[in-house]
Amino acid sequence: MKSRADFQKMKETGEAIAMITAYDYPSAKQAEKAGADMILVGDSLGMVVLGYDSTIPVTMEDMIHHTKAVKRGAPGTFIVTDMPFMSYHISKEDTLRNAAVLMQKAGSDAVKLEGADEVAGLIQALTKGGIPVVAHLGLTPQSVGVLGGYKVQGKTAEAAAKLLEDALQCQQAGAIALVLECVPRQLAALIQQQLSIPVIGIGAGAETAGQVLVYHDVTGYGVERVPKFVKQYGRADEEMQQALFQYVSDVKGRKFPSEQHTFTMNEDVLDGLYG
Ligand code: KIV
Ligand code: NA
Repeated sequence: MKSRADFQKMKETGEAIAMITAYDYPSAKQAEKAGADMILVGDSLGMVVLGYDSTIPVTMEDMIHHTKAVKRGAPGTFIVTDMPFMSYHISKEDTLRNAAVLMQKAGSDAVKLEGADEVAGLIQALTKGGIPVVAHLGLTPQSVGVLGGYKVQGKTAEAAAKLLEDALQCQQAGAIALVLECVPRQLAALIQQQLSIPVIGIGAGAETAGQVLVYHDVTGYGVERVPKFVKQYGRADEEMQQALFQYVSDVKGRKFPSEQHTFTMNEDVLDGLYG
């Protein structure tokens, strides 16, 4: 399994870090097989696998449950788990306790928190406690209500300067990497250059140390509309839906099961049963 030192070295040598989300055993298995360097058990699971319309309803129980499944599917891959909404804002004690559960019970190798300022203090406390933290800045979906929608961040001089300052704060606090979501590529490049830790972008251009995307967006599974920054590499939905249409149609048309999918027994035994 790759470690923090490997990710740091990748940034230094320019070898790109490939990160993808996974939420269950089969997706984690596929991600590991594909050679992903890091798997994110993102709280995006609330939207893509649980059907909520934001990440706000996601709980610690959800994150533990899904991280355990991902760990079983990808035992050899570095797993980052999102700390869900309000699991790190109530108190430092609460934050440490929740992060510890993810590390000890669920199998996370690191946790991810959105934000800087107060959150930087928490990054520091977690790091001191031996818990590796990935920071998350730019578009931070848990604050969508405060941000006023899913929009590109850091476009004004003031917002860009604040983002750079926040990124430095997170690094100073001990973050092992920074996920930067939905920012202009020029700003992402500047942050990547100013920071010594790897910046992993999503909608942040090509000049970051790595990229992260959501599994369902990449494979085209269960998503109707994807944001501009997503490249869909597959059409899983179409293939799966086709299979399901065919199955239902075969059952209704009595074409399934055929002999090939059917068990038989010795005729003598059967005669005995009929008497
Ligand atoms: O929850 C998630 O999937 C994320 C990524 C989009 C970075 O936080
Ligand atoms: Na997230």
